[in-house]
Amino acid sequence: MPGASRQGVIVSSNQASAQKPGEARCPGPSTRDIIAADKGGAPAHLLEESYEFIGDQDIDFSRYTSRDFFTRELDQMWTRVWQWACREEEIPEPGDYTAYEIADRSVLIVRTEEGGIKAYPNACLHRGTQLKPAGSSGCSKQLRCPFHGFTWSLEGNLVDVPCRWDFPHVNEENFKLPELKVDTWGGFVFINFDTNAEPLEDFLGVLPEHFANWNLEDKFVAMHIRKKLPANWKACLEAFLESFHVLETHPQGVPTVGDANTQYDFYGDNVSRFVHLVGFPSPHIQDPRTEQQTLDALLAEGVVEGVYANDSRFKVPEGGRAREVFADYLKEALGKLYEKDLSHLTVSETIDAIEYSLFPNTCFFPSLLFPMVYRFLPNGTDPDSTVFDLLYLQPLPDSGERPDPAEPIELDFHQSFHEVPGFDPGLATIYDQDTGNLIGQQRGFKSTVKPGETLGNYQEVRIRHLHQTLDKYLDKNKEAAK
Ligand code: FES
Ligand SMILES: [Fe+2]
Repeated sequence: MPGASRQGVIVSSNQASAQKPGEARCPGPSTRDIIAADKGGAPAHLLEESYEFIGDQDIDFSRYTSRDFFTRELDQMWTRVWQWACREEEIPEPGDYTAYEIADRSVLIVRTEEGGIKAYPNACLHRGTQLKPAGSSGCSKQLRCPFHGFTWSLEGNLVDVPCRWDFPHVNEENFKLPELKVDTWGGFVFINFDTNAEPLEDFLGVLPEHFANWNLEDKFVAMHIRKKLPANWKACLEAFLESFHVLETHPQGVPTVGDANTQYDFYGDNVSRFVHLVGFPSPHIQDPRTEQQTLDALLAEGVVEGVYANDSRFKVPEGGRAREVFADYLKEALGKLYEKDLSHLTVSETIDAIEYSLFPNTCFFPSLLFPMVYRFLPNGTDPDSTVFDLLYLQPLPDSGERPDPAEPIELDFHQSFHEVPGFDPGLATIYDQDTGNLIGQQRGFKSTVKPGETLGNYQEVRIRHLHQTLDKYLDKNKEAAK
């Protein structure tokens, strides 16, 4: 039964349960029920559930703080996974390059003369100097080392050795730049250090199928924020893998978004998702709300500043739902703004926060209102800090014209998302709230006398799933070492 209420919000609900672990769900209509009732229906994959109980043991805090554990991740996991390194549109022309940094490794990603993409360890074969500065990007017709001038073509062929007479032991064969595995999906360039890695297509699992109606290739980077965060990369990612925290961390959202009724799924080792409702009040809301009140609250939030205002034209018809009116309006208004026909999108694909994570560190959102991509990279070799890339991908106009991708806006640890020019203030507050918890969490990891964190069986299953996949990489290495 509901406990004491605070500002119309139920703050606790203790119900004895005879169910097996992982079977209990928040009382009330499920996300699936609500989406299934949307006018116009929903894609089949949004109506499917893919959850099972995968354990309830505590997760060691040392996984977030230990230097040894961090080193094992580098040696045994980061060197074996497909990881998003850049967008294709960052290197459109022959000679365009970008240097992708993961911990202490640097990878040069290059557009070749033929228009293909190659990835090389960013290191000269002479005495090891980085061919391009860490994190840099630009355009050069050849890859020339800044130290003594050994030079390679974009295809990785040796083209110049200064004082050739002194290197009779160097030839085109043994001095070809070594290549890393590289492949693309949805306009994202992925690399893998492991020459025996499975194909990217296999690693992606259900993603291409589930993103068929939200083609990431037909998008451009309209905004890119890169912020330093004061916690381990997994803790930062995990802050975005559940909506259990919404009630406490984002109380302003509960009148218009789901939280305890969010749906959680996982598919194979690498992909998990949540489907987080928008336009439907949180089950924590105690007072019954009319659909019109929900719609008014949605419009008052001004999620997309300037696109709509509190306008008396917005009335929920008899038997209709706030979600539907909001989605119809958004498709029309954003369609006009983006010069794009968006009428094919269902209600859920228009307004819900649908987040897919791809192991180890990336999230893709296939919806119009929340078209984000997240990436959480260790900040160099520091287990205690992270670089968070936050991208907004806007649909290309129907004309097919591709605007230049936005340059990253850098925010340091102490800076607020409100400092990003043009960023919606409501969203800036949400990201400040999310990232504001992290310093306290990382410090708490080090202060606690309890060995590990205790996770909810359902709402926090994506966190457990992440750790179980990580363990497979760490265990695999243990097996190989035997
Ligand atoms: S280290 Fe690269 S040319 Fe000498
Ligand atoms: Fe949040």
